[in-house]
Amino acid sequence: MDNRAKVIVVGSGLAGSRTAQFLQEYCDVTLLTKGELMDANSALAQGGIAAALNTGDSVNSHFADSMLAGGNESDKNNLKILIREGRKDVKTLIQEGMEFDRNADGSLNFGLEGAHSTPRIVHAGGDFTGKKVLEFVQSKFQNIRVITNAFVSELLVRNTKNGSEVYGVRFLDKQNREMIQIADFVVIATGGLGKMYKFNTNSSTVCADGFALAKRAGAKLRDMEFVQFHPTLLKSTTPILISEAVRGAGAKLVNSDGDYFMKNKHKYEDLAPRDIVSREITREITLGKDVFLDASACANFEKRFPFIAQKLKENDIRRDRIPIIPAAHFFMGGVTVDSTGRSNLRNLYAVGEVASTRAHGANRLASNSLLECLVFSRRVAQDILSRKLNHNPEQIEAIRATETSQIHVPSLMQIQEKASCSIGIIKKQAKLRDFMNWLSKFDTQKISTSKEINELENLVLVAREICAASLKRSTSLGAHYIEVDV
Ligand code: SIN
Repeated sequence: MDNRAKVIVVGSGLAGSRTAQFLQEYCDVTLLTKGELMDANSALAQGGIAAALNTGDSVNSHFADSMLAGGNESDKNNLKILIREGRKDVKTLIQEGMEFDRNADGSLNFGLEGAHSTPRIVHAGGDFTGKKVLEFVQSKFQNIRVITNAFVSELLVRNTKNGSEVYGVRFLDKQNREMIQIADFVVIATGGLGKMYKFNTNSSTVCADGFALAKRAGAKLRDMEFVQFHPTLLKSTTPILISEAVRGAGAKLVNSDGDYFMKNKHKYEDLAPRDIVSREITREITLGKDVFLDASACANFEKRFPFIAQKLKENDIRRDRIPIIPAAHFFMGGVTVDSTGRSNLRNLYAVGEVASTRAHGANRLASNSLLECLVFSRRVAQDILSRKLNHNPEQIEAIRATETSQIHVPSLMQIQEKASCSIGIIKKQAKLRDFMNWLSKFDTQKISTSKEINELENLVLVAREICAASLKRSTSLGAHYIEVDV
């Protein structure tokens, strides 16, 4: 009998993959992922990893920048952990063989991004950072049972004398069969909720699933009003993120009248925190203007941003006139966890974007998210390894065939349209109330056996949480900007 702890990790972005990598030597690890292994936001992350490793930089300075960007709402302890331990975790990654971009003298090349007071972002392959880091971590997989195209539809929970306990998951496999898998520990690392919005920078697999799974199982969610919008998504039929690092390298925002409208709006101008820049762009658009990024002043553009340069070329877009629009990017709220990733349900952990450690406060600082994945995946793994076992033995078994579902849900287009205008960059109380009324028509407690319907139910459930939290907070804070009825 294998006496190792059975661990299920749900999600194959950096948070999930790194957790699995840490545990593979000591545990029986199954990694379930909704698409293929690289279908994750981490693989799309262009901006790199922020860490106070540059000469003249300090943990205090990185902490202060993160705190300010987050509206002074960060959990100080967890933010300190992120910044302090993050330096070591980046060094560990380098010792394991990960190659970051370097200067001619061999020193790390540090980039600048929004709301950072000094260059401190390491990149790999220019704007391919997330892809390179994720590939690197997954290249270390040796002893992990990876199941791709596995859509987790339910966390299995039982009542014990110590309270509710998670003991496995139900999922739909590639052939759409319902399966269950039992485990000692379940780690959710499903990312955020980009698909809720028409314009978003996320992988199309990122659909609020983890929040909905956790909520239905009885886990606590918090800070659901804090959705971060990135100022610059390429406005095109094939939209891609235009990294903040491009503005860090000298690009400027300009409207169709030729005005550099971020001038005098903030001391960092185009590199002000994302919520501020996104709102200013939205105001320009509301005035009927188009907004562009003028990247003509960026030196070595093709070398520093090979992915973006290629996409601009494919779309026949000039570098001095890149059409952009703000887009949903990151979620600061999520499953309430402590600094080891433990949720309020026994044996359930959450890590990465789906988790709320509150390290990011009300608005995450650029390039702190891959850092979060590195730091908190290690902490989750260490905590699991410190736990005593009460084995749940069984493996995968098919339990029943797929049924056609009768559950009534709105279409994705309806959800996206309503979410974009009600729980977007600028919220209004009356619109929030209308959206809430509309959402309340749909039942999200029954779990459909159709993946597509289940995804829509998840979006509805989470939209309701965002609406409720947004209505509760009547003053603006960080990424939550609300105009109150008069
Ligand atoms: C970007 O490259 O602008 C995004 C980086 C991040 O979200 O941290």
